[in-house]
Amino acid sequence: MATARKKAAETMARTDVVIEVLDARLPGASSNPMIAELRRHRQRPCLKILNKADLADPAVTAAWLREFDAEDGVKAMAVSCKRAADVAKIPAQAAALAPHRDRPDKPVRLMVMGIPNVGKSTLINALLKRRVAKTGDQPAITRQQSRHQLNARMDLTDTPGLMWPKIEYPSDGLMLAASHAIGENAYIDEEVASFLAETLLSRYPELLAARYDCQPAGLDGPALIEAIAAKRGFRVKGGQTNYLKAALILLQDYRSGALGRISLESPQSRKAMIAAAGHAIADQPRRADPELL
Ligand code: G4P
Repeated sequence: MATARKKAAETMARTDVVIEVLDARLPGASSNPMIAELRRHRQRPCLKILNKADLADPAVTAAWLREFDAEDGVKAMAVSCKRAADVAKIPAQAAALAPHRDRPDKPVRLMVMGIPNVGKSTLINALLKRRVAKTGDQPAITRQQSRHQLNARMDLTDTPGLMWPKIEYPSDGLMLAASHAIGENAYIDEEVASFLAETLLSRYPELLAARYDCQPAGLDGPALIEAIAAKRGFRVKGGQTNYLKAALILLQDYRSGALGRISLESPQSRKAMIAAAGHAIADQPRRADPELL
């Protein structure tokens, strides 16, 4: 990862506009702080692509766009990289962030960055209209940087999915795991599904009721998963409910969009989460300074 970061920092020096691909369902949690740091160090403008907008709640996505557009040097767009018409709007938006370039002798140099599985390869293939990057639902497919000419006035560099060393907020790790941005061996399915169930119970109870024919009121995460197992008749030998199978179904239904259009966080919920985390740290008992005793 240190090598990928060093390589990204070098490429950033030769970049005019950073295209940061985010997952529209979790735009805060899928923002790698290392990308922001590298970008700010070089003062590069950024086009934030809220990808997979087809899976996210449109009203929440609109709130995120307002939030990002208010940041200095940032323009945000919601797209589905699986739709050619959405992707076709990206080059003009990127060029507008580097008006001093955009000439045949000075092409706009774009750099596509983002954490694993947000859709970078899908975006690059769609922009270039050919298959140069390998896509896949398993995190960390792209391993090396590669450079491509997009048109006479633009080229772009594809970078490997970049994770950061320590995820500061536990709920970010859980949102990333639920959305398949973290490799399957790095988390426990039941724990992630339980977090997802809690989030959906508080934000989208009506979608749960419709999909699983259950009454979400009064349930907590594990109880919802039990209810899904009971409704679907998932049992292990001995007759007990098959909790793991129901947990995996919930994760799959969220990931595929079968549950409906869902955003795991909004700008407001993220601010509240960060404020609560700050209070929790401030409330921790401090050890007395031995110098003062
Ligand atoms: P990465 O390079 O950032 O790691 O991501 P990649 O393009 O490989 O995409 C990861 C998965 O996300 C792929 O799923 C891809 O099809 C899907 N994806 C990318 N963009 C979008 C989008 O705008 N909307 C939706 N719904 N999905 C998107 P996969 O399971 O490999 O699917 P597929 O390739 O079988 O379709």
